[in-house]
Amino acid sequence: KMRAHMAGNIILIGFMGSGKSTFGKWIAKHKDMEFIDTDDYIESKENMSINEIFETKGEEYFRELETSVVKELQAKLTNCVISVGGGLVVKPENQKLLANMGKVVYLETPKCELIKRLSSSNNRPLLKDVNLSDRIDELMEKREEIYKKAATVKVDTANRDFEDMYKDIINS
Ligand code: S3P
Repeated sequence: KMRAHMAGNIILIGFMGSGKSTFGKWIAKHKDMEFIDTDDYIESKENMSINEIFETKGEEYFRELETSVVKELQAKLTNCVISVGGGLVVKPENQKLLANMGKVVYLETPKCELIKRLSSSNNRPLLKDVNLSDRIDELMEKREEIYKKAATVKVDTANRDFEDMYKDIINS
């Protein structure tokens, strides 16, 4: 188990809208760490938005990009806060890579809260032209167990302040 924490990164996983980027930026600012978001990283590498990548190259291509980005980050990052796209951990290969990078933190957020945060989102191709509530159910059914299994620690985000949530990570 030594190896799992050698790189010292904090990796935030969870559903779209669970607050990975917001909480990740907070940790970076208050705990003096660097913050990286895999979606931002992909967008700048490809010089395209996530929407454009899905539209012009398709989801499969995006998933390949995610794996190559995780490999790249695994080789170079230590002591960073990394927020990863909500679907990245679905691939077992990516789960293994993340496990070697540090603590994998699952942000668990109630569905009603996800709906509030996602209802005005227009940069998430998987939520475009669908019934939001149904799509959350459908994806959660496939992913909830994966999030839990991939995580070193599960952090409840409902009615919690960030300092409190951070303590859960440190104490795990
Ligand atoms: C996705 C989540 C998004 C982004 C892409 C696909 C997913 O990231 O990677 O739209 O499959 O759940 P966020 O979780 O940061 O919204």
